[in-house]
Amino acid sequence: MSKQSFKPGAMLNPVPVVMVSCGSGEEANIITIAWTGIINSDPPMTYVSVRRERHSHHMIEESGQFVINLCTQKLALAADFCGVRSGREIDKFQNQSLTPGKGERVSCPTIEEAPVSLECVVKEQHRYGTHDMFVAEIVNVQVDEQLVDEKGRICLDQADLVCYSHGEYFGLDKEPLGRFGYSVMKPKTKKRLEAQKRQKAAADKRRRAESQKEQAAKPQREKQPKSLKRKKGDTKNRQWPQGQRRQKSEAGKGKKQNPKRSRKKS
Ligand SMILES: Cc1cc2nc3c(=O)[nH]c(=O)nc-3n(C[C@H](O)[C@H](O)[C@H](O)COP(=O)(O)O)c2cc1C
Repeated sequence: MSKQSFKPGAMLNPVPVVMVSCGSGEEANIITIAWTGIINSDPPMTYVSVRRERHSHHMIEESGQFVINLCTQKLALAADFCGVRSGREIDKFQNQSLTPGKGERVSCPTIEEAPVSLECVVKEQHRYGTHDMFVAEIVNVQVDEQLVDEKGRICLDQADLVCYSHGEYFGLDKEPLGRFGYSVMKPKTKKRLEAQKRQKAAADKRRRAESQKEQAAKPQREKQPKSLKRKKGDTKNRQWPQGQRRQKSEAGKGKKQNPKRSRKKS
């Protein structure tokens, strides 16, 4: 393989993309973060690197707390939005119809719609050229009950998580290429794991069928008469979510964001 040299850059890919909630009450905010990772197993330690000009920066600095909410395919659009609009101008929870949940060990909210929320307490703050790195201990982890199997194991493969690579969001492939240590696995272990996998696939299928049955049993919403349905471009009957009009005028302030620029600036 012949390679070409490029100027030094943050070319580590793929990276996680997470929705970090911070602040509290009326001031609660969400910032999308790609510069994050695990730095120690026991105690579990993580970090988020935040530019000093972000609205969230002072919230994390002052409270010493934040929550890392893992991002799913369903949440990707909201994650992108929370990464290109500032909490200075809008309430991102409200705008994206996200529900603030209760942190057990921190006072800032979790995001209810996220399958996993890591409650973090800041231990150190390091200042670098563009970003401040908040090193934190993970003091509690909340996981959607739907992702916990009957043996109490977390089935993250069911969570539809996404990652971020070179400016783009990607869903994870359902089928893993292998599991930890698969390069040196004994044939006997391989056989046992394959049997487990088949059992799990059957259980997942049953679970899906049950949830489809439940959905079908739910009462259907009444059909709206045609005359009341909104036509394309008709803003007259539009139901604005609370506060959105304010956001439109305040957030817009004439300046349009260049999506390419905001994509590059992590
Ligand atoms: C995918 C993605 C990843 C991002 N990663 C970071 C990051 O690691 N650090 C950072 O300071 N900003 C990052 N940003 C930008 C902030 O999320 C963005 O400036 C946001 O609007 C700040 O919100 P706030 O002003 O309410 O804090 C990222 C944006 C996107 C879309």
